[in-house]
Amino acid sequence: MYVLTEEGEKYLKNKLPEINLVKELSKKELSVSEAKKLENFNIALQWAKKNQWIEIEKGVMKLTESGKSILEKKYEVEEYLKEIKSGKFDEDKMKILLTRNLVRNVTEKELETKKLIGKEVVDVTPEIIRSGVWRDVKFKKYNVEFPGKKIYPGKKHPLNLVFEKIREVFIEMGFDEMQGPLVETAFWNMDSMFIPQDHPARDIQDTFYLSGEGDLPDKKIVKNVKEVHETGGNSGSKGWNIKWVPEIAKQLLLRTHTTSVTYRTLAGGIETPCKRFCIGRVFRNEASDATHLPEFHHAEGFIAANNLNIRTLMGFIKSFYSKFGLDEVKFKFNYNPYTEPSLEAFGYSEKLGRWIELINSGIFRPESLSPYGIKVPVIAWGFGIERLAMFIYGNKSIKEILGHTCDLKYLRNYNLLKLEKW
Ligand code: PHE
Repeated sequence: MYVLTEEGEKYLKNKLPEINLVKELSKKELSVSEAKKLENFNIALQWAKKNQWIEIEKGVMKLTESGKSILEKKYEVEEYLKEIKSGKFDEDKMKILLTRNLVRNVTEKELETKKLIGKEVVDVTPEIIRSGVWRDVKFKKYNVEFPGKKIYPGKKHPLNLVFEKIREVFIEMGFDEMQGPLVETAFWNMDSMFIPQDHPARDIQDTFYLSGEGDLPDKKIVKNVKEVHETGGNSGSKGWNIKWVPEIAKQLLLRTHTTSVTYRTLAGGIETPCKRFCIGRVFRNEASDATHLPEFHHAEGFIAANNLNIRTLMGFIKSFYSKFGLDEVKFKFNYNPYTEPSLEAFGYSEKLGRWIELINSGIFRPESLSPYGIKVPVIAWGFGIERLAMFIYGNKSIKEILGHTCDLKYLRNYNLLKLEKW
C-alpha cells in the first residue's frame, strides 16, 4: 500500500511548487533571480519546464499557452495525490509520485500503527517506535499490582524425588546400583530364586504373561536350578520334589518384583562382600484400588558377606528407616518362598502417629543360592516405592501420584520441601 510522504502531504495542502510558480507568473513576469526566492524553486522550475508551462528569455520567465491554461484545469499530479489520500491506488499513476518521492510504500502493520494516533495504547511495539507514532499516542499506565499469569515451570515429579532419595540412601550406605529388564522370563522372576513351579503367585491372576518364550541362561545354571527344585541339589535340602519343566521357566512375563534383578546379579557372579540395590518398575495383575495399581515401583537391596544373620538384617533395616526419619522400628515374621527367616518391618511415623508397614525382607534360602555357588549368607529387603511416597506426601490414593488419573493440580502444587521434613 502507499501513503503520502511528508513532502506529498505538504504539496497536497499548499499545492505543488510548479503550480505555485505558474500562479506567481500569471500575476507578473519574473526574472530567474527574483523567482529563486520562491519556495522549492528548483523543483518548480524543473517540472514547469518539463510540462512546457514556461519559457525563459534573457533571464525572464514567461508562461506558455499551456502554462496559462493549467490554472483553469485540473493538474494530474495533484489529482493523484488526492486519490492516494482517499485510499485509491493505481500502479501507473504511482510511478511519477514515486520518482518525485511524494508517496511511499507502506506495510499493513505500519498503516495499522498510524491508526493508533491520538488513541490510548497498551503495547509498545517496534512499529510504534520506528514510525514515531509513539509521540502522538497516550500510553496506558502499567498496573504493577495486577496479579501475574500463573506459570508452571518444570518441576520434579514427587515420585522421582522419592527415587532420588532412596538412591541417595542406598549409596550413602555403600550399595551399588543394578538394573535389569522389565520383560523377564519366569526363570529370572521365579525359578532362579526357588519359587516352585506350582506356586500360586505364578498364576495369571497375579502375573502378566506375554506371548512367546524367552531364552534360558547358561546350561550349567539351568541344570543347577533344575536339580535344586527337583532334589535339593547340593543345598542340603530335599527340594520341591516335583519335576522341573523348562517350558514353564521360559515363559515371558512382566517382572513382578525387582528380585529378578537381584538373582540375575547373584547368578552373574559376585565378589563378596557385596552390596547392591535396584530401583525399578514392576507389574502385578491385581484389581486396582486406593493402594494398588497394576504398575508400580520397587526398591530393594541385598548384602552378601560372611557372618550376616538376622540381627545384621534388622540393624540394616533400622538404619535404612532412620534415613527416612523413622527411628522406631518393629519386626514381625512373615513368609517369602525365597527367604528364611523372613521379616516384615514397621516404622513409626511421628507425623501420621502410627506404625507403617513398609519393608519385606529376609535371608535368602540356601536353595536359592547354591545353584550360583554362593556360600555366604545373603540378606535382602525390598519395598513398594509408591507406598513410601504416599506416607511422605500424605496421598489418599496411589492414583494421585501414578498413572493416567494423576491429579495435575496436585503435581503442580505439591510441596517439594515435605520430603526433607519427613
Ligand atoms: N520381592 C519381595 C517383594 O516383592 C521383596 C523382597 C526382596 C523380600 C528381597 C525379601 C528379600 O515384596
